[in-house]
Amino acid sequence: MNFELTEEHKAVRDAAREFANTELLPGVIERDEHQKFPAEQIKQMGELGFMGMMVDPKYGGGGMDTVSYVLAMEEISKIDSSASVCMSVNNSLVCWGIEKFGTEEQKEKYLRPLATGEKIGAFCLSEPEAGSDATSQQTTAEDKGDHYLLNGTKNWITNGNTASIYLVIAQTDREKGHRGINCLIVERGMDGFVVGKKEDKLGIRGSDTHSLMFTDVKVPKENRIGEDGFGFKFAMSTLNGGRIGIASQALGIASGAYELALAYSKERKAFGKPISQHQAIQFKLADMATEIEAARLLCLKAAYLKDQKKDFGKASAMAKLYASKVAMETTVEAVQVHGGYGFVKEYHVERLMRDAKITQIYEGTSEIQKIVISRELLK
Ligand code: CAA
Ligand code: FAD
Repeated sequence: MNFELTEEHKAVRDAAREFANTELLPGVIERDEHQKFPAEQIKQMGELGFMGMMVDPKYGGGGMDTVSYVLAMEEISKIDSSASVCMSVNNSLVCWGIEKFGTEEQKEKYLRPLATGEKIGAFCLSEPEAGSDATSQQTTAEDKGDHYLLNGTKNWITNGNTASIYLVIAQTDREKGHRGINCLIVERGMDGFVVGKKEDKLGIRGSDTHSLMFTDVKVPKENRIGEDGFGFKFAMSTLNGGRIGIASQALGIASGAYELALAYSKERKAFGKPISQHQAIQFKLADMATEIEAARLLCLKAAYLKDQKKDFGKASAMAKLYASKVAMETTVEAVQVHGGYGFVKEYHVERLMRDAKITQIYEGTSEIQKIVISRELLK
């Protein structure tokens, strides 16, 4: 067993850290306040290779492993989780899904511009009446011979208005249950496809979350991913990897908050000494550091298993379940260490606390992660 990062891994981590500090940090408070998507920064992230990190270089990707992806996600998320969720969806849901299960034509047409960040992707599973209960899809993809006719509404779609390539899950044959579901690649601009309202959110306010409406959208058959009826399995397999991205996002939110609390505790004085000299604060820092290290190890273990082409569904669910809990708890404590200053925007920790909550909800709530884990344990 080797806990050392390679020189390559350290270089990726340092590059992401440098980018986050120089390009994402300035303006992050304003973007949060005004719900402004970090468009310019996402473009730069594409140019630096962060939007298709694990994609084979023959399709324009970075050809890196999942461990590198975890390291980069942590660094970006320390500063701006609105940018990192865009990165996570593009990398581990959209690019990975098309690369793993798409046809050669789909890879050439869609994966290539996604891998370079020239285009952004979205993953569309959730609906107004189908969130955790993902098999109860109401959106329909009616088989019309050479195309599908897509009708329905998707909810909460990250990159909803920024994306131009959408992976849309829909029911083709209700009688077949989850085996009657398909995943279709839908392009922005197809007739009958409308982007709905933007959500006004508690956290990740710079991320662009929208509902999407489809009315008689004609989607060519060649845009279906996998065999007929593979759509639900596609979504579940893709989410196994996506959850590593969100676990790493949670890890980054926690470690970002911890680093701010640590630095502040050395500067702020109370009762004649830095608050870091009070044992109550020291114990908070010790708990935070220990839990963050455990979360990091779970993220890296899930990434390692994926890179080794071993089963990683349980490991990624564990990483997401635990890291998101650590993100929530650490950010609350980081605000506490800052006292009143933690409650105002200038010190960043209140934003990290608001951003942490979503990691317990999207890509499967914490309750759903427990279902995934316990089913594996009881198999
Ligand atoms: N990996 C691979 N296959 C899986 C799987 C997994 N993790 N989980 C289920 N499957 C397969 C099963 O093997 C089964 O196939 P077979 O019948 O051929 O064996 C099929 O899928 C149906 O599985 P279940 O009977 O277990 O289905 P279920 O109705 O009980 O639901 C669930 C299972 C785990 C609760 C699932 O519905 C789920 O994951 N829900 C959460 C949805 C979710 O995570 N949404 C995220 C949306 S994307 C997003 O949120 C992005 C973002 O924010 C940024
Ligand atoms: P529900 O499923 O209604 O759950 C409500 C509560 O009941 C939760 O606490 C849940 O854990 C609990 N619950 C439900 N079933 C069970 C059970 N069987 N056992 C125990 N507890 C249960 N979706 C996408 O497809 N693509 C995206 O890009 C995307 N981005 C998102 C971005 C944001 C900001 C948000 C808020 C959501 C996003 N989502 C996205 C949707 C997200 O994945 C869902 O919100 C999530 O899966 C939960 O579904 P729900 O909101 O319908 O809650």
